[in-house]
Amino acid sequence: MDLQERWSAVDAYIESKIVGEDSALRAAAEASVKAGLPTIAVTPAQGKLLNILAKSIGATRMLEIGTLGGYSTIWLARALPQAGKLITLEVNPKHADVARQNIARAGLESKVDMRIAAALDSLPVLAQERHVFDFVFIDADKQNISAYFDWSLRVTRSGSLILIDNVVREGEIIDAESRDVNVQGVRQMYDRLSGETRVTATAVQTVGSKKYDGFVLAVVN
Ligand code: SAH
Ligand code: DHB
Ligand code: MG
Repeated sequence: MDLQERWSAVDAYIESKIVGEDSALRAAAEASVKAGLPTIAVTPAQGKLLNILAKSIGATRMLEIGTLGGYSTIWLARALPQAGKLITLEVNPKHADVARQNIARAGLESKVDMRIAAALDSLPVLAQERHVFDFVFIDADKQNISAYFDWSLRVTRSGSLILIDNVVREGEIIDAESRDVNVQGVRQMYDRLSGETRVTATAVQTVGSKKYDGFVLAVVN
């Protein structure tokens, strides 16, 4: 068994024992594949991690940047109390369409507000609308990741949690000479976070069915 096979097998084991991906989540993943969306949603175990983190801070207002088919959206929105709300930003109308159906199937349409536009166009609107989010999940294009972090600081409060996906990229992020715009985008985010006194941040490396990657976790001071 090579390493990737082992990581995937362990993810399958963990999922079978404790994650509890239900039929609405499975249907969301299946509908996304069927519609030809890229298979880059968080894994079930990662989705549950988002859910647990959001629950553990009692988040009632959440922001997600990068919806895709709504798989992570469903995990996050399920952590909300009755009157809780999640705003999710997606630029691709086809992705948004699939997400809307998946979110409806999961019975979460009343909690989820999807804004279909480039995130850098929606974020100033959210700031204008004076939203204050308890939890932000940054998971759209990687080129603008540090701009998304800047905006996140403007629409959060002390104690809010900011999570950023795909911050390791199979270890490529330590290659300063990388020609990959995604890698350079992630590196800019680390430079941006380096010495930022308004948050307390770390990164965790992850392996599993989505290869080798990681999350940044930052709490607003
Ligand atoms: N969070 C999802 C995966 C998101 S994939 C999950 O885990 O289930 C990244 C998504 O970001 C894609 O759907 C892509 O269309 C979207 N995206 C890319 N650039 C964007 C931009 N500038 N503004 C908003 N969304 C963007
Ligand atoms: C890519 C984007 C993601 O958000 C992800 O989780 C994995 C891969 C990508 O653009 O390659
Ligand atoms: Mg991602």
